Amino acid sequence: MRTIIEPFRIKVVEPIRMTTREERLALLREAGYNVFLLRSEDVLLDLLTDSGTSAMSAEQWAGMMRGDESYAGSPSYYRFEEAVHEVFGFEHVIPTHQGRAAERILFETLCGPGDLVPSNTHFDTTRANVEAVGARAVDLLIPEGLRPSEVHPFKGNLDVERLEALIRQEGVDRIPLVMLTLTNNSGGGQPVSMANVKAVSEVCRRHGIPLYIDACRFAENAYLIRLREEGYADRPVREIAREIFSHADGCTMSAKKDGLANIGGFVATRDAELAQRQRNLLILTEGFPTYGGLAGRDLEAIAIGLREVLEEDYLEYRLASVRYLGEAIAAGGVPIVQPPGGHAIYIDAAAFLPHISPLELPGQALVAELYLEGGIRGVEVGTVMFGRRDPDTGEEHPAPMELVRLALPRRVYTQSHVDYLVEAILAFAERREQVGGFRFTYQAPVLRHFTARFEPMYEPA
Ligand code: F0G
Repeated sequence: MRTIIEPFRIKVVEPIRMTTREERLALLREAGYNVFLLRSEDVLLDLLTDSGTSAMSAEQWAGMMRGDESYAGSPSYYRFEEAVHEVFGFEHVIPTHQGRAAERILFETLCGPGDLVPSNTHFDTTRANVEAVGARAVDLLIPEGLRPSEVHPFKGNLDVERLEALIRQEGVDRIPLVMLTLTNNSGGGQPVSMANVKAVSEVCRRHGIPLYIDACRFAENAYLIRLREEGYADRPVREIAREIFSHADGCTMSAKKDGLANIGGFVATRDAELAQRQRNLLILTEGFPTYGGLAGRDLEAIAIGLREVLEEDYLEYRLASVRYLGEAIAAGGVPIVQPPGGHAIYIDAAAFLPHISPLELPGQALVAELYLEGGIRGVEVGTVMFGRRDPDTGEEHPAPMELVRLALPRRVYTQSHVDYLVEAILAFAERREQVGGFRFTYQAPVLRHFTARFEPMYEPA
């Protein structure tokens, strides 16, 4: 095996700033130990999210210049529409400013109060948009998907038996659509197999329920199918992607992930009548159907990004780089969600810092310490994000898992950045017994992780 290399060279550089440990401690204190409240210039390697943080290619920047800003009927829209037809195969395409706007339009036009929307796992914004129209979001992940250390090639799969049982119990009329999130972001960036897509689609067809895909990370999922599923090793990844979508009735997409763009999204469908209603709603809040809340130049960047993301050399490097990070820290004794998934490595903070109980926020401690150790910004996906505080008693309830996500922006960091990450994480591992927990000093009533402030229950050095 040779060294993983980036299948691109660098034309424009953006300096990142080294800080001293002392500076970082002062900055972190000032931010109430919440890395969301740091300035990004004070972060060396920013792994907060892979969303909207991709580096665009020379072709995409060229496309930005070609962007036509006509209000109606812009050629940029038609290039975007053609790219979506080519990659996904859906007839009707409606651009939106990002993924959650596509979700809102989909659920508002398909669901109502009392409905149920099953999925492998709804992403937070998806769940929130389902609930906003009075419907209930139901997660039907296979049980392996909730066991961090267990190795299974497709931990994003939906439990088909439970889907059948739910349909029997609740009746077809209460289930206006089924969703599949590719890859399953909330469950560790884990892929869904083609066999599972087919099986879910078959159940949906039998009952006349449409199947929609949350396609944010479709290219990474397609490549993981190629690497892990029998019969796909020699298939071009474009074909694998087309095959996935051939089993679905439509999709929502945040182009900020596998669209390799900094903003944008869309909803797509085969249903002409539904598309018409969606366009009417789009005009109300997003804009005219040939731009949908985006500039013409953004549509150009997405059209090019959707094709570039399916280039085999890119995907091979992308997945190898994530795997390398995961395997290197796991070999050094850091427990991660296994196996490494598509866009991020998730450290199991509960297993890594077993001396800190869930209500003492081990994920928060790890996020703070990774910043102190190496200027690295990850995100807590545990009790801070998903735990609950009883509004009456003030009692805290922990989340089911205490994870820290290290999401890799696309085409941004190099292999030596990844090596640095490994070194910093393993250096922290050496002294992990010396750190303690955290407590909230401020929390908002909803979505508390964004603005919360904390204090350490030990003396960070
Ligand atoms: N679906 C999934 C699976 C996502 O991961 C996201 C965003 C969305 C939908 C919403 O898309 O942000 O364009 O409105 N995930 C980001 C993240 C925020 O950091 O994982 P959006």
